[in-house]
Amino acid sequence: MEIIRVKDAVQGGKKAFELIQEGMEKGAKVLGLATGSTPETLYAEMTASDIDFSHMTSVNLDEYVGLGGSDDQSYRHFMDVHLFDKKPFAETFVPNGKASDLKEECQRYDDVIASHPVDIQILGIGQNGHIGFNEPGASFEGTTSVVDLTESTINANKRYFDKVEDVPTTAISMGIGSIMRSKKIILMAFGEVKAGAIQKMIEGPITNELPASVLQNHNDVVVIIDEAAASKL
Ligand code: GLP
Repeated sequence: MEIIRVKDAVQGGKKAFELIQEGMEKGAKVLGLATGSTPETLYAEMTASDIDFSHMTSVNLDEYVGLGGSDDQSYRHFMDVHLFDKKPFAETFVPNGKASDLKEECQRYDDVIASHPVDIQILGIGQNGHIGFNEPGASFEGTTSVVDLTESTINANKRYFDKVEDVPTTAISMGIGSIMRSKKIILMAFGEVKAGAIQKMIEGPITNELPASVLQNHNDVVVIIDEAAASKL
């Protein structure tokens, strides 16, 4: 793992954007994208730039079950507002949280991933070490599935909802096996609240109990962290 320490989230977003540009110059065509507050500074850099993404494809990590593009809290809506409405891509994929047959939707999403192998995957990290919505205990070989969110994740994400009862308790998430097949992975983390997970991810044992620790097994991972997130290293 290459660790890049930055002053703050803004600098982190700039650094991640530089890496994406380098990747695109070398031929990257598919970006794996993430939601949450962490990649917001990256998406701000992308939208402020004069780079054309209209030949690029994006494949997002996850979506809440029960929410779709017209719901303000859906990840599809987040991506449209923060990136796609301002910077059109050729194709953008996000799991359909409103699919009537969720099993079929997981299969469809695995087919999407298989036909659009991710060149550069952007990741955030949950306070419990989750990546995507792969919570502690998730299989390292996992493909797309419906997952139960932990109390820690529901509490961390309730800030986007009026009340905690409104936070969906399940989500569709790309699996860890699929994430690990991305050619390059850029994980970003900012703030003290991420320091424990970052320390375990980098210095701890590789264990399903800290899903992000699997990244120690990947040969091209860049971790971009600010001082607070690096404070327990
Ligand atoms: C959610 C998302 C993750 C994200 C995590 C951290 O659980 N599914 O992809 O990394 O939140 O979010 P934040 O960046 O807001 O801290």
